[in-house]
Amino acid sequence: MSPLLYEVLHIFGILLAFISLGGVTLRAMSGQRENGPGDRLAVITHGVALLVILVSGFGLIAKLGYGFPGWIWAKIVIWLLIGGLITLIRRMPQHATVFWFTIPLLGGFAAYLALYKPF
Ligand code: HEM
Repeated sequence: MSPLLYEVLHIFGILLAFISLGGVTLRAMSGQRENGPGDRLAVITHGVALLVILVSGFGLIAKLGYGFPGWIWAKIVIWLLIGGLITLIRRMPQHATVFWFTIPLLGGFAAYLALYKPF
């Protein structure tokens, strides 16, 4: 598989993850009950997204021969945070507005790390 296809998959996974987190955040903000049809769809999509991001991320590492510099480890930590956030949003709906703004910042930082490779 070509590196470009891995990049497209990586971005597709990222889009799935962030639409899911946005959906769950709005659901939490509006006080709707957990585990309704939209909430469940978002949680399942989020799980699939994490898998797609990780597999395509490791595919890119292999194809582009990066090994494991600091910026990759930092992205793995961001991936873990993105994974844990869905539970955090569900447990702390009162902080939904904070999540609404910090989650995209986290994604932006992951993009910065991939493009600038600062360490
Ligand atoms: C939610 C977490 C993540 C986000 C938001 C994210 C975001 C991005 C973005 C926006 C790009 C740039 C795509 C492009 O080249 O145009 C990228 C590239 C990349 N990401 Fe991620 N990523 C995440 C997790 C990961 C993980 C977990 C890994 C490794 C296991 C990883 C490895 C890579 C690699 C190797 C590249 C290619 C960099 C290059 O083209 O030189 N990413 N990522």
